[in-house]
Formats: sequence, structure tokens, C-alpha cells
Amino acid sequence: MRKGILLAGGTGSRLYPMTQVVCKQLLPIYDKPMIYYPLVTLMQANIRDVLIICTPHDLSLFQALLGDGGRWGLKLQYAEQASPEGLAQALMIAESFLAGEACALILGDNVFYGQHLTANLNRAWQTQSGATVFGYHVANPHAYGVIEFNDAGHVLSIEEKPLHPRSHYAMPGLYFFDGRAAMFAKTVVPSARGELEIVDVIHHYLALGELRVDILGRGTAWLDTGTPDAMAEATQFVAAIEKRQGLKINCPEEVAFHNGWITASQLAELAQPLLKSGYGEYLLGLLDKQVFDEM
Ligand code: G1P
Repeated sequence: MRKGILLAGGTGSRLYPMTQVVCKQLLPIYDKPMIYYPLVTLMQANIRDVLIICTPHDLSLFQALLGDGGRWGLKLQYAEQASPEGLAQALMIAESFLAGEACALILGDNVFYGQHLTANLNRAWQTQSGATVFGYHVANPHAYGVIEFNDAGHVLSIEEKPLHPRSHYAMPGLYFFDGRAAMFAKTVVPSARGELEIVDVIHHYLALGELRVDILGRGTAWLDTGTPDAMAEATQFVAAIEKRQGLKINCPEEVAFHNGWITASQLAELAQPLLKSGYGEYLLGLLDKQVFDEM
């Protein structure tokens, strides 16, 4: 089974006081908890075996929300990140879960949506060794890991939050690694901002000539949720599309049903406790709705 790691740790201090008691991945983006969005991205990559990494304080909350994932055809496990020391730490925490196998790592506050995304995700799985990351054109690259390319499109460098970005291509929080990721993560030392940077794991693959960068194009939305404004904009984006189309964005029940991981009667059962919010009506509506495009 393909393996995924969903990192939902961190202090969320950029969103205080919103996140003083509840972590940000449990806050809503429009009509569902934030963590649903990256979890569905993993599901779209055909990943059902997922390790959720979070703070000891939030672990029971995530368990209450998602359980063992069985109701969505998933196998969810949980691990604690006692103190947030950077994204590369997630790979070390996940070492025994991974048992030397390849994985996708996604950040719990990253929202992806778009028609070509599934193709991007499948391409990333197709290569057996090395790592695949993505590049996404943004207006404010200095807030992210930034990828520099030469004119032929080959990667020259990747820098974490550079003061003077060498391109407008940010690296979203979704990474595909072969079985060596945990081993490389162990060699990483804290950066100037005191974190074990994921960029330094990726540098290993770059140095070996085993890093691929796939561009997520204009037809894909990669939304940030790191500030109150970014969260509000993500909510507005999801609301606008969902209301216009009458189709939900990153609805785990829908993807599980579409993928054949749950039956129609299981979907109907999942809808029951959600009927008052309209979410349940939507799930019931899927049972006899004709939708012809891809998830
Ligand atoms: C992290 C990564 C950065 C990446 C970003 C995507 O940044 O370090 O390379 O571009 O996620 O969300 P952070 O969220 O820790 O600021």
C-alpha cells in the first residue's frame, strides 16, 4: 500500500489567538476542517495508509475527528511531534511507519485543487527512486522554499525563504520521496531559524541528480493558510467554486466513494449525522448524481 505522512504539528503562532487552544489544521476552511484538504490530496494520490503527526495536545482531537479512517476506507495512524523542530523531523518520526518504503509527505495546512492534480500525483509515484517536488508560480516567493531553474528548466538551487528569491516558483508542501528520506533527514542540522528544514533533505536528492520538479500549472490552485488573510481567501475560494458548481472541493467521503473504497450504503450512513449542515444532503445527493469529470 502506498504510504503518506500528513504533518499537522506546529504551534500555529502566526494565527494567534485563533490557534491558542485549537491547532490550525482543525480550524475550518469554509465548510470542513482544514486537515480534510491535504488528506484528500493524499487520497487522490491513491494513498490509504497515512501517518498523521501532530502535537501530543492535539492527538486526541484528531483521533476524535478522523478515528482510524476505516469509515473512509483508510488506515490512519498517529504519532506525536513533542516539540516542533522542523519539517524534516516528520520523516524521522515516521521512520518505523515507513520501514524503508517510499512515501508522500504533505503539510496539514496546504490546500490543493485542480483538474490536472491527479495526473501530477500519479506521475510523481511512477518513478521508483529519487524525489519529486512541485513548483508553483506565486506573487510572493520569499515566503516559501524557492526553486531556481536554468533556461532548459533544470533545477539549479532550492532556497528556504530567501530574502532575494531567484524565481517566482515556490515549492508547495507536498513531497514524494523514495525509501532514503528518513536516512537523509537524520543528517540535517538546524538552520539559521533553528529548524530542521525539508529543503535540506531535498538538497541530498538534488546533489545526487535524483530530484524531479513537476510544475503545477495555472489550472491548479495551491492555497496558503498561514495567515488570517490567507485563510479567509482560501475560504472565499472554496465557497465561490462550491456554490457555483454544486460540487464540493476535497470532500473525503466523496473521494472514498468515487474510488470505490466505500459502498453506496456506507456513504448513506456517513451522511446521517451530517444532515443538518447540508453536508449530509450533499453526500446523499452523490448517490444519484451524474458527474462526468475526474475527481
Ligand atoms: C514550509 C516549507 C517551505 C514550503 C512551505 C509550503 O514553510 O519550509 O519550503 O514552501 O512550507 O507551505 P513553513 O510553512 O514552515 O513556513
